[in-house]
Amino acid sequence: MGNKFRLLELAKEAREKAYSPYSQFRVGASLFSKSGNFYSGCNVENSSYGLTVCAERNAIAQMVLCGDLLIKEILIISDSDNIISPCGACRQVILEFADQNTKIYMCNKEGICKESLFYKLLPESFSLK
Ligand code: THU
Repeated sequence: MGNKFRLLELAKEAREKAYSPYSQFRVGASLFSKSGNFYSGCNVENSSYGLTVCAERNAIAQMVLCGDLLIKEILIISDSDNIISPCGACRQVILEFADQNTKIYMCNKEGICKESLFYKLLPESFSLK
């Protein structure tokens, strides 16, 4: 089972904190890093809509702040019946801190998740690494 259960708990908690008065769409993300730490984030919207920051990027900012730079596992959940998968911008940002083994869990609101290797979500990607 790995860290999925803990990741799910953290992402659900984060989802409760979402600041999404414009879309009413709450998203929670959680990460397990190479150093063995857990991080989470929620989406934070803005009245200037384009300034919205997704849950995944907020979780990554927490990780970087703590000096961790490699995601082993990432999980995202929203309050939709459908499984959520990361937006294009977040895929590029996740890539910066991912490797070939980084796992992603994409979940529906009940916590039913689809599991994949992250690199499969962004083929022929741009990277300077
Ligand atoms: N959102 C995320 O937090 N992550 C994604 O990968 C997709 C979209 C947020 C942004 C916005 O607050 C709301 O979901 C609707 O787009």
